[in-house]
Amino acid sequence: MINVLKSYKELSSTVADIVEEQLVEKVFQQLVLPTGSTPLGLYEELVKRKLNWSYVRTFNLDEYLMNPDHPYSYHSYMRKNLFDRINIYPDNYYFPFRPTLSFEDKINYFGAIDLCILGIGGNGHIAFNEPGSSFKSRTRVVDLTEQTIKDNSKYFDSIDDVPKQAITMGLGTIMESKKIVLMANGVDKLNILNVAMNGEVTESVPASILQRHDNVEVYYCD
Ligand code: PGA
Repeated sequence: MINVLKSYKELSSTVADIVEEQLVEKVFQQLVLPTGSTPLGLYEELVKRKLNWSYVRTFNLDEYLMNPDHPYSYHSYMRKNLFDRINIYPDNYYFPFRPTLSFEDKINYFGAIDLCILGIGGNGHIAFNEPGSSFKSRTRVVDLTEQTIKDNSKYFDSIDDVPKQAITMGLGTIMESKKIVLMANGVDKLNILNVAMNGEVTESVPASILQRHDNVEVYYCD
């Protein structure tokens, strides 16, 4: 079921409420976090709330194969928009790394993911699991599609600067989360969201796998 919200502000604060609920217990929580334009309002809201992040470990969904100190890396994005503005310990946030199965070992060592927040790409991708990705996929190095390179070029000086490869959590990895929240913003996402949530469950629409999870919430605003 797609929950339609009135505004981007409401989308951001609704998902911030879900994160806040997760953080109140003084028990370590494992969160999976997305990048992109959709969660920017969520991160702004979380910073404003001055929550206690000292019992939180985060795992980002994906990262380009590039120098993590590069200003357009997801490391830089997360530090700028969230991590450097909250009280999370720097050794408690992780990005997918190689060897990729060691990243999975790291997650498993700490236990399950309690809450996974996702965006959705125009082609139905989640993280960098592009159409055709196996539903059983694990964290791995992937080639980005032309479409994703084009979509993400808005964050770079030129399309030629967009990395061609990334490391992404797999669909199988994401599905092991105890709870999943999908955020989508903008009328251009509505069609793919409907296809993913109400259409056939198929590897050609990676987000459609979420229909098989029993604790998923989907929030949309136009
Ligand atoms: P966006 O990206 O938030 O920038 O629209 C979402 C995604 O591609 O997963």
